[in-house]
Amino acid sequence: MFQVCRIPLKRTRLFCINASGRDNKPPTHYICTMNKEIVVSGIRSTGYLHLGNYFGAIQNYVKMQEDYNCYFFVADYHSLTTHPDPKDLKANVFRVVAENIASGLDPEKVALYAQSDIPEIPELYLMLNMMAYKGELEKVPTFKDKVRTQPDNVNAGLLTYPVLMAADILIQRAVKVPVGKDQEQHLEMARNFAERFNKRYGDFFPEPQVFRFNKDTVKIMSLDGVGKMSKSENVNATIFLSDDDDTIRKKIMKAKTDAGPTEPNAVMPDFIQNLFLLLQLTSKPETYETFRNNYNDCNIRYGDLKKQLAEDMAAFIRPIRERAKELQNDETLIRKILKEGAEKARTGASATIAGARKLIGIDYYTPNP
Ligand code: TRP
Repeated sequence: MFQVCRIPLKRTRLFCINASGRDNKPPTHYICTMNKEIVVSGIRSTGYLHLGNYFGAIQNYVKMQEDYNCYFFVADYHSLTTHPDPKDLKANVFRVVAENIASGLDPEKVALYAQSDIPEIPELYLMLNMMAYKGELEKVPTFKDKVRTQPDNVNAGLLTYPVLMAADILIQRAVKVPVGKDQEQHLEMARNFAERFNKRYGDFFPEPQVFRFNKDTVKIMSLDGVGKMSKSENVNATIFLSDDDDTIRKKIMKAKTDAGPTEPNAVMPDFIQNLFLLLQLTSKPETYETFRNNYNDCNIRYGDLKKQLAEDMAAFIRPIRERAKELQNDETLIRKILKEGAEKARTGASATIAGARKLIGIDYYTPNP
């Protein structure tokens, strides 16, 4: 993927991205880091971040910020579909921003902003609504889920959720969108809306693709062994970045285990594998190796493993939690970060809107030639 740039660039890093993206073929052209590929991703503002988010998404964002032109935003407009209490909104947004920065996202390197600070997004959303059909929106599985789970609030915002998401992405004319499996269909719809716009008005939007930054995305299971770690399922089996040391210890000590292997080198059940994965991610390599050998030799003591994991996990989360708390208490700083992020994001966003308006024919003040 990465090739040394042939163009000598003074005081610029000499790494370029092979835009063809194929491995063995000679690159067709280079995009230099001065002109990095655009990545957009939205962060939900509901709920607290947990280990699954940290290892599955945020860590990848942190790596991407080095090589891509990243736009990461808090999807606060999207959260309105479920009618959150107005007095909670700001705290939710500030907390998510603080937790992401505490996890390593650097607002100097990426544009980190609130969706609602970019008025060009709802403007593009309106334009794209004309490219979206009621029938296809009604068929989206995430919409159908909501119809089932919140039948009293099937609002048009829920129906057009994928259109707003398309606007988030297309407003920056992004090519890469790091999202989980559950969002892939939304991204496909974004491509469809972009394509329809391009067909009708002329080539304008690139078609954004799912970005698998890391082929082996780390998936953390819930500590009760039921499904993936999640903010809405069993909170006692989910470790949040805001959990204090004792809460972390309690949760880990209650994690599901079994009677242990009965033959050497036995295959691990997934919930045991999960504990080993957590050990691997947060403990010293020697610690992991020791327990791994104990498992293979059938003399593993899960109580000891959990005690060690609890201490290592607490030590791992402590600095993130403390930094997030510090940041959250510094509202002036969060406001400054959001403002600067919005400024960066609006540069591209206003250019996109100007171009889209012109193509659509909303161009009333340019005199005829
Ligand atoms: N829908 C995404 C989620 O639920 C969040 C999101 C909103 C998003 N807009 C986006 C993700 C644009 C990627 C790009 O996780």
